[in-house]
Amino acid sequence: MEQFDVVVAGAGAAGMMCAIEAAKRGRRVLVLDHAKAAGEKIRISGGGRCNFTNLRTEPKAFLSANPKFCISALRRYRPADFIALIDKAGIAWHEKTLGQLFCDGPATQVVKLLLDEMARHGVILRLETSIGEIQQAGGGFRLTAGGRAIACQSLVIATGGKSIPKMGATGFGYEVAARFGVPVVEPRPALVPLTFEIGLLERLKPLAGVAVDVRVMGGGTSFDEAMLFTHRGLSGPAILQVSSYWRPGEEIVVDMAPGIDVFSLLKAAKAERGRAALATVLGEHLPRRLAQLIAEQTGAQGNLADTPDRLLRQAAEAVNAWRVKPVGSEGYRTAEVTAGGVDTRALDQRSMMVTAVPGLYFVGEVVDVTGWLGGYNFQWAWASGWCAGQAV
Ligand code: FDA
Repeated sequence: MEQFDVVVAGAGAAGMMCAIEAAKRGRRVLVLDHAKAAGEKIRISGGGRCNFTNLRTEPKAFLSANPKFCISALRRYRPADFIALIDKAGIAWHEKTLGQLFCDGPATQVVKLLLDEMARHGVILRLETSIGEIQQAGGGFRLTAGGRAIACQSLVIATGGKSIPKMGATGFGYEVAARFGVPVVEPRPALVPLTFEIGLLERLKPLAGVAVDVRVMGGGTSFDEAMLFTHRGLSGPAILQVSSYWRPGEEIVVDMAPGIDVFSLLKAAKAERGRAALATVLGEHLPRRLAQLIAEQTGAQGNLADTPDRLLRQAAEAVNAWRVKPVGSEGYRTAEVTAGGVDTRALDQRSMMVTAVPGLYFVGEVVDVTGWLGGYNFQWAWASGWCAGQAV
């Protein structure tokens, strides 16, 4: 039987951060992962440049059934703390937009940083190792992994959510939670493109590939960012953001010209240049293909002077308040994260330990704390992993 102080299941962002911090405190730490390489999601994140944190990190950027839970961890480990690590490793970075920090070079630098820190502090990493039976024993845990029997005092589950199964994502964390009677908030795909039914897709076909800056409202919130029409429905940052709040059966409302009262604009154009076509005037504020489709679908023929106000109002509504009901989302296949997860009401907010199961910890995406798009999810992974690392 091998003995460790701490076993971390999952060599992702949260697991590696936790392992480093625990090892710094002199704990003997083993990290297990069934994948061929550690930090695979870090490697592909941010389009290969890793959006590793967000300067505007605050609790309101996170969804959870227990919204206050994340406050403590986010206060104790801040974006500046991770930036200090990045700077120490000499990794160049830049702010892209909205507080989002990206590496100038490849995201693999961040993986290397974490692997180097683990090695420097004596963490043992075993890849391509599946974890079998886990039992409570002797005030800690016993488990089998890769055919070996292992005993540890603290067990940290950092196996992430279900997003992108092709990359090795599993529901393992939720199974461990169930095994120890820890409640789980129903997991669901988040930061995910939304899909339309076939009839609507057919009507919107000419728009595939068109991007437009929008305000999208749904699930009781709104986001001002870009939206993209796709062959399946809608994507782009605005849609990914709202998808985390959207529930099946709900409508979303899209303003494709935020800040512009399109009806007033069309009325003024009708009075001042009545010979202009509706599509032409809309095209001054919208991508041409979109303007054309809205004009066509309004049924307005001829120029503005010949178009009744009723139709102008209809066109304006299609721009300022397009109401649409997605049939679903692209699901875990493309979702950037999994919302829901281990119910935080069962965890201690300072250490991430299951209060009813001493020694058992959950960190990172497997926990019911989900960030907006823009580096927030990594900040949660670093912060929750760091907190557990101080306690295990
Ligand atoms: P993570 O999923 O990173 O790690 C879990 C680890 O557990 C994996 O190594 C996995 O192999 C292992 N594992 C799973 N099941 C196991 C089992 N049964 N046995 C053993 N090991 C197991 N966020 C952000 O802030 N900025 C960004 O730029 C991006 N970009 C981005 C792009 C794409 C394409 C995706 C899919 C996601 C992002 N994200 C992101 C989200 C971010 O990647 C994610 O929230 C974190 O990686 C979560 O970190 P964790 O360590 O919790 O899980």
